[in-house]
Amino acid sequence: MKATCQAHSNIALTKYWGKRDKQLMLPNNGSVSMTLDKFFTQTTVAFDPKFKKDEFVLNGKTLAEGEEYSEVKGHLNLIRTMAKGKENAKVVSNNNFPTAAGLASSASGLAALSMAAAKAAGLNLNEKELSILSRRGSGSASRSIRGGFVHWLKGEKSDGSDSFGDQIASAEHWPEFRMIVNIVKTTQKKWKSRAGMAQTVATCPYYPTWAQTADADTLSMRELILKKDFTGVGQLAEFNALKMHATMITTRPSILYWQPTTVELMHNLMAWRDEGLESYFTMDAGPQVKVMCLEKNEKKLVSKLKEIQGLEKIEVCKAGPDAKFLDKHLF
Ligand code: PMV
Repeated sequence: MKATCQAHSNIALTKYWGKRDKQLMLPNNGSVSMTLDKFFTQTTVAFDPKFKKDEFVLNGKTLAEGEEYSEVKGHLNLIRTMAKGKENAKVVSNNNFPTAAGLASSASGLAALSMAAAKAAGLNLNEKELSILSRRGSGSASRSIRGGFVHWLKGEKSDGSDSFGDQIASAEHWPEFRMIVNIVKTTQKKWKSRAGMAQTVATCPYYPTWAQTADADTLSMRELILKKDFTGVGQLAEFNALKMHATMITTRPSILYWQPTTVELMHNLMAWRDEGLESYFTMDAGPQVKVMCLEKNEKKLVSKLKEIQGLEKIEVCKAGPDAKFLDKHLF
């Protein structure tokens, strides 16, 4: 059986940083994200006895070993166990944006892989089950099954059955909301989020404060989104991101994702805001700065952002759709 899926990337408005269960990928706190309309992964999966081993082609390049191959193989093993299947798989996956550029390719990638592979293996999973399966591949992928604004519930159960992405509102709820993704030029080798968050939990003296306050932020964010309170959402998203980065920076050794352009952007956005141009920023496990604004300020902000040296690309996103199956396969 062969199946193809398209899943969109997402950016967290309140962040996930730290696990309570590494095996099941259960978070220490809930998080809220916006699914992006512009950035997605398309993945085709087929299980067939004719494949001698699992094959994985990412953006046209065959990967036969290494970390990414092992992650995909591990996830296929999980799906084979669930489906009581034994056949090897071929996986072809394309991102329409640079992989590992800080645009959460793991979120869209693992969500697309989970949805396509589950169907190809003959499993008939609902959205909640697909989110749980995606979570096992990459925590943030649990939020990419649904479009619009999504709350990844922390859950209480030790088996993880209550920790999945719950849609707060669809993309149509807030069509004026914009997320401007600013790609900062960098050559720095970065900490992957998985290793970074484990190191933070193990060594950051402020991590307990993060863990104690992150859930309250997430619950407030949910309400602010429902009310379409842009100032509230922006202020809380910015504060929550800075709080997460404070724990990263005070990890041993320090995890400093910011580049000079990252900091320059933050200063500029704060100054423009004081002048009446309302926008807020958020950052993840990389130097990129994602700027939130409303449609009415988009043009002015983009023209100001374009003047900043050291930015490779500026992409304006809106809230995007649910993950979906495609009829056209990639092989
Ligand atoms: O699930 P991962 O490994 O993609 O981790 C995501 C971590 C952050 O992007 C920093 C925060 C988040 O909630 O997306």
